[in-house]
Amino acid sequence: MQVIHTIAELRAALAGSTGTGFVPTMGNLHEGHLSLVRQARAAVGPEAPVVASIFVNRLQFAPHEDFDRYPRTLARDCELLESAGCELVFAPDELELYPEPQGYKVHPPAELADILEGHFRPGFFVGVCTVVAKLFNIVQPRVAVFGKKDYQQLMVLRRMVQQLALPITILAGETSRSAEGLALSSRNGYLSDAERAEALHLCATLKALIARWQAGARDLEAMEADAMQALRAHGWQPDYVTLRRQHDLGPAQEGQPLVALAAARIGNTRLIDNLEF
Ligand code: PAJ
Repeated sequence: MQVIHTIAELRAALAGSTGTGFVPTMGNLHEGHLSLVRQARAAVGPEAPVVASIFVNRLQFAPHEDFDRYPRTLARDCELLESAGCELVFAPDELELYPEPQGYKVHPPAELADILEGHFRPGFFVGVCTVVAKLFNIVQPRVAVFGKKDYQQLMVLRRMVQQLALPITILAGETSRSAEGLALSSRNGYLSDAERAEALHLCATLKALIARWQAGARDLEAMEADAMQALRAHGWQPDYVTLRRQHDLGPAQEGQPLVALAAARIGNTRLIDNLEF
């Protein structure tokens, strides 16, 4: 496996390759990321290269967020990627990807990107779309894999690829969880032991919300308020707990595939999770 830090070297390494698979990440990798790498490998076959990128993208962090303390663990990440069947790691530094302020940006449509995560993290999806578009131009993959863990991100990026007619197939990876059900996340490393035990409640709250819907409850506003209150009672500060249509994240409706999504802070750590049903 090669670890490459510049755009020019990556282009040289990929020259003549076709059918490349790509998994963009911000590093501090866990089994969730590795499952996407294996999925990319399975999708492109044994001959085509699989590239993973590791880049903590300042553009998608607000000034008060955790950009500076986001864990950077390149050596260990590379060992894990190699074991998962990745050929090339692209790990540019900030000046390589942003040699000058990134004035050209990709602005996703408000109805998809200004709700939920985009509402609580203004500018987040502009940062994500801009860096992913740039990485796509550098790697020129045929297939790119993103996790359902970041459900809205996956949807926003799928739409970007579709509207900009990028010749890339986007695949969705299932969320990897701990044995107790906690969605794996680089940010779980911020949790104290007590917070980690409490973190299981996020997924439990989503399950309870889904159970109420399945039992016939339809008063979404009251159901969502109750779910937020249940989290607060456990010491969380929830941003949202909500039932939406899978298709476009509009309000939940009878007879359609739905997804329960939540974002909440426990201590200083903001976690997100979702469950389709
Ligand atoms: P990051 O948080 O490192 O996640 C990289 C990819 O791994 C994303 O597609 C994410 O959905 C997926 N992922 C994270 N946790 C997962 C889990 N438990 N199971 C399965 N997949 C999981 O998402 C980003 O980085 C960035 O926004 C990025 C797309 C790289 C742009 O900077």
